[in-house]
Amino acid sequence: MASLVESPARSRERALLPFLFLLLLLLSPSLVSAFGEARRIRMKEEVRRMFYHAYENYMTYAFPHDELKPITNSYTDSLSELGNLKLEHLPENYKGSALTLIESLSSLLVMGNKSEFERGVLWLSENLTFDIDARINLFECNIRVLGGLVSAHILATDSKSRLAPGTYKNQLLSHAADLGQRFLCAFDTPTGLPYAWINLKYGVMENETSETSTSGCGSLILEMGALSRLTGDSRYETAALRALRKLWSMRSSLDLPGTTLDVITGEWIEYSSGIGAGVDSFYEYLMKAYILFGSDEFWDMFHSAYIAVQKYHEADMRTGKATYWQLTSLQAFWPGLQVLVGDITAANSSHREFFHIWDRFGVLPERYLLDHDALHPTEKYYPLRPEFAESTFYLYQATKDTWYLEVGESIVKSLNSYTRVQGGFASIRDVTTMQLEDHQHSFFLAETCKYLYLLFDDSFLVNENYIFTTEGHPIPIRRWWHERLPQTYIPTNWTSFKSENHPNPVSAMQSQVCPATSTGGNTGILLESACHIPDMRTNHRCITHEECGTDATSCRQRMCSMAGYCGLWFRI
Ligand SMILES: *[C@@H]1O[C@H](CO)[C@@H](O)[C@H](O)[C@H]1NC(C)=O
Ligand SMILES: *[C@@H]1O[C@H](CO)[C@@H](O)[C@H](O)[C@H]1NC(C)=O
Ligand SMILES: *[C@@H]1O[C@H](CO)[C@@H](O)[C@H](O)[C@H]1NC(C)=O
Ligand SMILES: *[C@@H]1O[C@H](CO)[C@@H](O)[C@H](O)[C@H]1NC(C)=O
Ligand SMILES: *[C@@H]1O[C@H](CO)[C@@H](O)[C@H](O)[C@H]1NC(C)=O
Repeated sequence: MASLVESPARSRERALLPFLFLLLLLLSPSLVSAFGEARRIRMKEEVRRMFYHAYENYMTYAFPHDELKPITNSYTDSLSELGNLKLEHLPENYKGSALTLIESLSSLLVMGNKSEFERGVLWLSENLTFDIDARINLFECNIRVLGGLVSAHILATDSKSRLAPGTYKNQLLSHAADLGQRFLCAFDTPTGLPYAWINLKYGVMENETSETSTSGCGSLILEMGALSRLTGDSRYETAALRALRKLWSMRSSLDLPGTTLDVITGEWIEYSSGIGAGVDSFYEYLMKAYILFGSDEFWDMFHSAYIAVQKYHEADMRTGKATYWQLTSLQAFWPGLQVLVGDITAANSSHREFFHIWDRFGVLPERYLLDHDALHPTEKYYPLRPEFAESTFYLYQATKDTWYLEVGESIVKSLNSYTRVQGGFASIRDVTTMQLEDHQHSFFLAETCKYLYLLFDDSFLVNENYIFTTEGHPIPIRRWWHERLPQTYIPTNWTSFKSENHPNPVSAMQSQVCPATSTGGNTGILLESACHIPDMRTNHRCITHEECGTDATSCRQRMCSMAGYCGLWFRI
């Protein structure tokens, strides 16, 4: 039995081993996060399987109803329940609007399934109707249904994914316009701020509540703006823009909005401000509207709002006094937005806060109270939300740091081990017990699976700039979005750009991070990401390229056109 007794020399060798290993790790950082090609492909296939497990179970057991109940293999017609916590005024004969199919269309293309995309588009072209006696939430219906239809229409007519000639005759755009017209009655208020609820068939109902949220008024511009540009009917964009401007005019002297307001009086109801539920996508849409439509008006609003929210976090809009100290699952979109702005360092550190909580519970609980270091007593659920995966995707795009792929891998593992059931993916009711709930939300297909897939395979993004709506629906950024802007902020003569030094356009997401720079002044050093550098002249006129600042979404130097304007040539 001598072999059990180690010689002193051998045990010294053993004792050295951990040090050698550590040294090796320190010397070759690539070994620390060796996320090789094979592992990336394995993960992408894993996400693809997740998506199809969710999708095919929906198509088998729920379609054309709205959402799947994965535990009982049944369905829920939830379009009229979205945002309707008290389940008021539910219709009696509503049979569903194929909500999950609408939400899945762009994900099918992201995963390269053109035939199934086409099948879905054609089914909806023929069978979708909004002539239904259902009270729906304007915000939810806008981001899920209108956004899903507009995005799918653009993709169905796009040169890369165009459907066979003759099969598609813009029916999804007609459905979208039909829905958009039904939305318009909501904006018929003294303030121009829209009601939160409308009946699709009969308009605003008698005695309808006039209370709505900041997101409800401020997250309509991408979908309704795109609808106007596509149809040539300016009413949708005008209504959304008017509401957004009114909302912005209601901000406090600290540049903060509240959370809920009254659309008749234009007064705030809830003065607490933050980046979570009820406000989140307001910030997101200011930035994304600037990227999509190019109007400085959006950038100016966003810039002030972004600075204010970083200063105050969750606070009373009037006093700036801190209200809550908490992390919520919905706030996890914020690092992704910071990536779009170009604030990568800040994005990285806020992302790590969320990762810490995710790592601790296995998923992100809805609300975590930092001051009590405890879960919120009634908000312990995790309904398959996408925001953390979304931010992880943006950060990986910006940094190519494979650590984010590892985060994605752990998200995928958690989803598979805690939420996958035989009939789909189920929400978690309580993250401490991992008890499940019989509901597969449509955003799991529109966003969670899509962002995880794009993290491991971004071929969908190559050679095209997209903005993703708050529901994950891609809208390509095209020069003509800028040109068709009704205002005159953007010079219309872009035809004469010098093009010799313009390489092939790359996705804004692929372009790298710019370093922070300090712009001094008598009042002290103001440290800003280079992405914030404004043009030398406020009217964006120029003689040389050097007079043009850096673009916030790409961190690239703007170019001076022959017409004498600073421009965003790379987005063409
Ligand atoms: C497309 O989706 C359908 C339905 O889920 C599936 O049967 C088919 O295998 C998919 N095709 C590809 C290329 O992934
Ligand atoms: C419309 O729905 C009917 C009933 O489900 C179906 O038979 C038909 O094929 C659908 N139309 C298309 C174009 O898929
Ligand atoms: C609306 O409110 C008024 C006053 O409270 C009430 O008399 C009326 O019945 C309500 N109408 C509906 C449709 O609920
Ligand atoms: C993100 O933060 C971590 C921890 O502070 C750091 O090691 C890493 O280099 C940072 N990455 C970026 C891209 O800033
Ligand atoms: C655009 O600019 C070019 C070059 O400066 C000029 O020749 C052309 O006439 C301009 N077009 C319009 C519509 O102003």
